[in-house]
Amino acid sequence: MLAVKAIASLLGLAATWGLAACAPGSDAELDALALQGEEIYQNVCIACHNGDPNKDGAIGPANAGSSEDLLRGVLLRGEVPPGYTPKRPGSNAMPRFPELEGDIPALAAYLQAVERTEP
Ligand code: HEC
Repeated sequence: MLAVKAIASLLGLAATWGLAACAPGSDAELDALALQGEEIYQNVCIACHNGDPNKDGAIGPANAGSSEDLLRGVLLRGEVPPGYTPKRPGSNAMPRFPELEGDIPALAAYLQAVERTEP
């Protein structure tokens, strides 16, 4: 009985993954710039942020939809632009990434392309 339940829940998981692969924001919709940003994000940022930028990660908050301005502030200076309310006010746990300055447009393109507005 337990085994049947375990198999059923595995099947449920597989179905969820199958759906996720067709969800808006999957690779098929990303242009070249966003794909470049995806590669950087999935290599560098997911050490702390979620592989799905719409969700909070182990250490860093969700960051889908980030503007170039926000990324420039956070990656280069460790601060958010004037008027922006940070998701983790007062925290300064994220390192600076000055070497990624030239990649900010790509990161912004990726994070904006995968943003989901529905829950
Ligand atoms: C060492 C862990 C770590 C890494 C690696 C990291 N971040 Fe963060 N990030 C954080 C934490 C923690 C915060 C919350 C604010 C803080 O503590 O500085 C944050 C906040 C942010 C925010 C601001 C979110 C908001 O709206 O307030 C953005 C945007 C962001 N990170 C983007 C990135 C990108 C892009 C990368 C990869 C280039 C990256 N982060 C890599 C830990 C990390």
